Parts: sequence; C-alpha cells; structure tokens
Amino acid sequence: MKKSTILSVVLAVVGKTMADCWSSALGYQCCKGCSVISEDADGKWGFEDKHWCGIVDDVCKEIKESCWSLPDYPCCKTTSLVVSSDAEGDWGYEDNQWCGIVKDAVNNDCWSLPHYQCCKGNVVVQSDSNGDWGYEDGQWCGIIKKTEGGNENTQNGEKPNVSINADAVPPQFSMESGFYENVEGLNLTLNSEGTILYTLDSTDPTTSSTAKVYEGPIKMYDRSIDENVISKCEHIDKSPISITLQTNYKASPVLADKATVIRAVTKFEDGSYSPVVTKTFLVMNSEQLKFYSEIPIVSLVTEPSNLFDKDTGIYVTGQQYIDWMNGPDYNPAKSEWDSDNIANFYSKGKEWERPASFTLFEDGKEVKSQNVGIRIKGASTRNSQVKSFNIYARKEYGESKFEYEIIKGNKNINDGKNITKYDSFSLRACAWFDKMRESVVQRGLKESPILATFDNNKSLVFIDGEFWGLYELIERASANYIKSNYDIPKDNVALIKNDELEEGTDADLKDFQDLVKFCKNNDLTKEQNYNYVAKVMDLDSLIYNYATGLYLGVWDWPNRNYLVYRNNGEPIEGNPYADGKWRWGFFDFDYSTGLTYDSFGGVKGYAHDSFRKFQSKKNEFPTPIFSRLMKNKKFYKRFAEVMEIMAEEVFNPEKMKKIVEEQKAKYLKYIVKTDWRWFNGTPKMSFESFSESQGEYFTGGWDDMTEFFENRPKYAYDLMVKNYGAVDKE
Ligand SMILES: *[C@@H]1O[C@H](CO)[C@@H](O)[C@H](O)[C@H]1NC(C)=O
Ligand SMILES: *[C@@H]1O[C@H](CO)[C@@H](O)[C@H](O)[C@H]1NC(C)=O
Ligand SMILES: *[C@@H]1O[C@H](CO)[C@@H](O)[C@H](O)[C@H]1NC(C)=O
Ligand SMILES: *[C@@H]1O[C@H](CO)[C@@H](O)[C@H](O)[C@H]1NC(C)=O
Repeated sequence: MKKSTILSVVLAVVGKTMADCWSSALGYQCCKGCSVISEDADGKWGFEDKHWCGIVDDVCKEIKESCWSLPDYPCCKTTSLVVSSDAEGDWGYEDNQWCGIVKDAVNNDCWSLPHYQCCKGNVVVQSDSNGDWGYEDGQWCGIIKKTEGGNENTQNGEKPNVSINADAVPPQFSMESGFYENVEGLNLTLNSEGTILYTLDSTDPTTSSTAKVYEGPIKMYDRSIDENVISKCEHIDKSPISITLQTNYKASPVLADKATVIRAVTKFEDGSYSPVVTKTFLVMNSEQLKFYSEIPIVSLVTEPSNLFDKDTGIYVTGQQYIDWMNGPDYNPAKSEWDSDNIANFYSKGKEWERPASFTLFEDGKEVKSQNVGIRIKGASTRNSQVKSFNIYARKEYGESKFEYEIIKGNKNINDGKNITKYDSFSLRACAWFDKMRESVVQRGLKESPILATFDNNKSLVFIDGEFWGLYELIERASANYIKSNYDIPKDNVALIKNDELEEGTDADLKDFQDLVKFCKNNDLTKEQNYNYVAKVMDLDSLIYNYATGLYLGVWDWPNRNYLVYRNNGEPIEGNPYADGKWRWGFFDFDYSTGLTYDSFGGVKGYAHDSFRKFQSKKNEFPTPIFSRLMKNKKFYKRFAEVMEIMAEEVFNPEKMKKIVEEQKAKYLKYIVKTDWRWFNGTPKMSFESFSESQGEYFTGGWDDMTEFFENRPKYAYDLMVKNYGAVDKE
C-alpha cells in the first residue's frame, strides 16, 4: 500500500464530486461521502451540508471494497488532505467546513476545538503487513485499499441476519445516562469475551456501517457544535424523503442543541451479539444544563432510517407517496392535511411501528429507560414537520408495561391512587401555541372528573440526540386509559372515539348508534323515553361534555374530538363509573378559548355565540342525543346549572388566571426555544432578538386566555338563554 494509492482514492472521491454525477441532472449535487440515507429509482441519496446529494456509487463501492480491516477494526472514514497550514496546525476540509488535522492521532489532541471540529480523517500513523493504519475517534482504523472483505452485516445493503442473545452480557458504561458538565472520556468495559462495537450516530451497532470497535475512551463534549444531521430533514418537492407533502418547511441551518447518544453491543466470536445498550448524555455548560433540568427531558433514540428512509421511515412521505402521485388514483386537488393521503407518515398499524429506546430525565437525572415501539400519532398533524408519536411498551421490546409516573399527579379517579403503570402513551408535539391553550383548559377541567379528559406533563424531546422541542407526555384513549383512570377491567371496556370503535365489539358500536337513532326518532320530553336514555347514559357526563364545548367555544367540535365509554361487565360496587352506562370524554382543546380558524364575526372570542354556531351541527351524529334532550325541561335545567358551574368553578376566572400565570412562567422559554428550532429557513436575527419578540408574542397569547376566562361568564349563560329560552327555575 503506497501513500499515493490512498491519495488517489481520496482524489477520486474529490474529483468525482467536483464533476457531475447522476444526480446533477436532477438538480442535486453529488455526495462527498458514502452514507446512504435513502434510495429510489434514480439512485442512492445522501444528505450533506443540509442538501440531498447523489451518492457516487462506483467510488463508494471502491472505498467499501477496499476496507480491509473489518470486522475487527473499522475502516477509516476518510483520509484528510492538508488544505492549508498556519501557526496553529494543519487544516483539512470535511463536510463543508474547516477542521483541524490532529497532530498526535493516538492521543487525539484535538487542538482546533471548540471553534472547529477536529478532522475525522487522518494521515497514515503506522503500516504493517495488512495495510496502513490510521487512528480515528480514539481507535485504530484501516486505511482503505483494494482487497476483499467488508462488514458481512452491511454488505449489499440487504437486511442482515443478526442473532441477539438476550442473556449475553452487554458492555458496561463508565457513566450513566445523565447531565454532565466537564467530563473526560467515557469508558466501555467488557465482562466477557468478545469485542465491543458502538455507534455515536444512533444507528444500531449490530448492523451499522459506522459502528466502531471500542479501543479506548470515547471523547465527551458538547455535541451542539457538531453539524446537524436529522435536523436537516425538511420539505423536498415530490420526494420520498420529504417530511411534509406540500408545506414548504425548510430546515434552519442553525446548529441544534445536541446530546451524545452512545449505542454499544458485545460481539462474540460466533458472530452473535448481546442486547444493544443505548445511553444519552447531555454534556453542556451549567447554564444550559439548568435550562434543561427545569423540565422533564425525553431522549428518543431509533435507527435514523426508521424515521427517514423512503421505504421504512415513518417520518417521511415515502416511495408509496411518489407511486401514488404518478398513478391513476392521484388527486392533485386533495388537501395535504387529509389523513387518507397515501404517505408513510399517514400509514397506521403495527406495520408502521418501529423499535426505539425511550429515556426520561427529571431534574437532570435519568428516572426511566425502556425499549419501546413508536408510531406517528394524530390525523392531519401527521403532515406537520413536527410530528407526534405514540409510544408502546411491549414484551417484544423488553417490558409489556411502562412502570413509572410519567404524568405526575395523574390519579385514578375512582380510588385516588397515583397512576404508575401505562401500556402506551403519547408524545404530543407542542410546537404551536394552541397546545398551551389546550394545556390551560385541561388543568381547569382536571377538577371535574365527570368528563373524561387527558392529563399531561410537558417535556423537551431529543430525537437521536438532536433537540426536537416541546412535547407533552399524555395519556392515550385506550382500554388501558379507562382501566387506569376509572377502574374498569380492560376486557370489559367498550370505547368509541370519533364515531369509530376503539375497544369492544361491533355490538357496542351498534348499541351506541341505536341510541342516537332512538333519540332522533323519539320525543324525549316524554318521561318514559327520557328515563330510557338516562338508564343507558350518564346524563351528567353528557351535560358536562356539551357545556364545556359551548362554554369554551371549541371550534372543531361537537361531532369530533369526543369519546364515549362504558363497562360491559358486572357493575362494580362502590365504583360509580362502572355502572354500565355510557360516559363521555373530550380531547383536543387547541381551537378554543377565543381561537378559531375563522373570525368570530366582529366580536371577541369571549362574546362569540357558540350556541348559534352549534345549531348547524346539532343533528349530526352523535349530537341528536344532546339536542333532543335539550327539549326536556328537567335536562335543560340541569344543563343551565352546569353552565353556571363552568363559569363559577370549572373555569372560574381567578383560578384560570392563576393557571395561565403558572404555565406562562414555566413554559415561555421552552416554547420560544422550540419555535427557534423549527424556524423556517435561515433566521435573519440572533436567538436573543428572536427570543425577545417571540416572548412578547406568546405572552400576548396567554393574556388573551386570561381575558377570555375573565369575560366569558358575562356572555355564556345569556347566549344559552337567547338560543334555548329561559330556564324554568322551579
Ligand atoms: C437468516 O437466518 C435464518 C435462520 O437462521 C435463515 O433461515 C435465513 O435463510 C437467513 N437469511 C439470510 C438472508 O441469510
Ligand atoms: C477510563 O479509563 C481510563 C484509562 O483508560 C482511566 O484513566 C479513566 O479514569 C477511566 N474513566 C472512567 C470514568 O472510569
Ligand atoms: C402521588 O403523586 C404525587 C405527585 O407526583 C406525589 O407527590 C405523591 O407522593 C404520590 N403518592 C404516592 C403514594 O406515591
Ligand atoms: C404534571 O402535570 C400535573 C397535572 O397537570 C401538574 O400538576 C404537575 O405540576 C406537572 N408536573 C410537572 C413536573 O410539570
């Protein structure tokens, strides 16, 4: 192996990238590196310097084939060329930025930090009969040459056959997941035979081409200075790896805050592996650590292709979207927000669930870590650049339950005990101010458990080590939710959500539909009919449901964002929720308390006649139940009482003002930070000026809520009377 050969390979790469390759014709530059993020009919795509680029296949093949040191040692990722030298040292140029070429590769004196990264590539440190050795990221690596070999797991890009021995000993970390300010390297130790492989890019070390053999301490530093990787994902027109269908979101080039994610595994002689261990470290200065310790932090780690690959990635449009677009069924006039669009992120079910590692930090300490399954959650918001997730505990990932108080203060309504066990929950994106509105409403409703609502706690989420923003950990409408909140055995739960059966049997759905029909076709002022409805449905929960929606003026309601549940088993003594009657629940208060898509017709939100707007929907499923009951004097009288309770207790202005102030104080800086992360395109201001102007803007949003709650009592009851008539007070 001659140095000139190394240079010729490198030059071949450099030379080819300068020239045209297949992607040039499509308007994309050619990649400098060989990391494939996605593949389509045109070729393999990489992502460099926040642009998609075409992988120059023959060059990458050449490099791969010449990687002789695998599997014992990784091949060196690059060999650096000295582009320039100055008094400080030699400079290289990698990933479109300057980097310092390490002087003493073995001791890795990265002299150019913190302003510039040290080059990943290196010069020949030593040669032996196998070839030339380099030293990268604290370990020896083989400098590429033309021989056979290669990692059997990653060759040909096929799905590898990895055998994991669940009982085998994984590597031990010298540090636990957590928050650190100044730390030396992290050590991995092996208490068994075998070798340790690890990755720093969230890929699975059993299959990843970037997995390295552990040779010595892993450098720990604030990786926020590293280039963004998945934060670069954005909208790309008509691409299978776009994160929205049409909404033109461009990633901000500002470096995202980053955690260090280390995934390590033991590889045995026979080619089998131990389970993979994934840990997350926030290495930052004390000010940053304080910022991140005042709110729960979630680190969600999954093989990046699980999110962004065109075939398997749940966060992107996918090949199916492109095929659909090019096929006969495509309707260009269809709204991109319709949840029956064909795209990976609109796809549902187990097939679109991916394995991930979930770690929760509170006060800067790890409190829970578990392997889970993740899916994209929601309806139209699946098309947003900031997507929500459902998280599932399953035996196949480790544990069938998630045993932790992820939502502090969430109690079983029947027995008052804390809820400490979940089988699933959601991470709901709070990148929009509407979610703050919902959060305030939710807190107000919490004390009137007659209506089923969903408790939540806010947290900041990192995905694959990159800051993703403010999310809420929230319960999911499931049999388990009914069980944990209302003590009804899971197997006996019937649950209907937005007209569809969630849990139970078709007979349950039919019963509910028949009840709606009964109400539509019968006179509910007649005692006998009224009593029948009261026998099968809890009228107070029905009343609370409609009173809440009408009081708050919820816009995308009443015939969506509702649920009904009941116990199909024997009534349970002492549990009023288990009497077998249908009960109501409500979710999604984003468009409420004075916020709509449209105007309120020249008045403030608090003065809006939500009762009149309601009339156009009152005969649509399932609202005839309520509409027909309103003709019954006894029912209307109780409804009017509850409208007073709304103003005096549930959304009492003083109480709500306090909640608003609390939430403003707690979340303002986090929502600003989230907004900055999702800035569309290149910001033309500093974070400080952004923070100031957005801070004022959001403060206004919170103040509007206070204004709503202060003034709504003056209008709500009168509007009710205007639409439904005077209340018979006898
Ligand atoms: C993977 O392993 C299974 C069982 O050991 C075997 O049947 C299958 O052919 C293997 N697949 C590949 C692609 O090697
Ligand atoms: C890691 O190992 C090195 C020796 O290789 C030792 O000096 C250092 O103290 C160890 N660090 C930790 C955190 O155990
Ligand atoms: C229930 O949760 C609250 C809030 O997190 C906590 O203060 C309390 O100690 C918990 N109670 C028990 C019995 O664990
Ligand atoms: C979590 O949410 C509950 C209920 O909404 C609230 O009382 C509590 O303060 C929240 N805890 C944190 C740590 O935000």
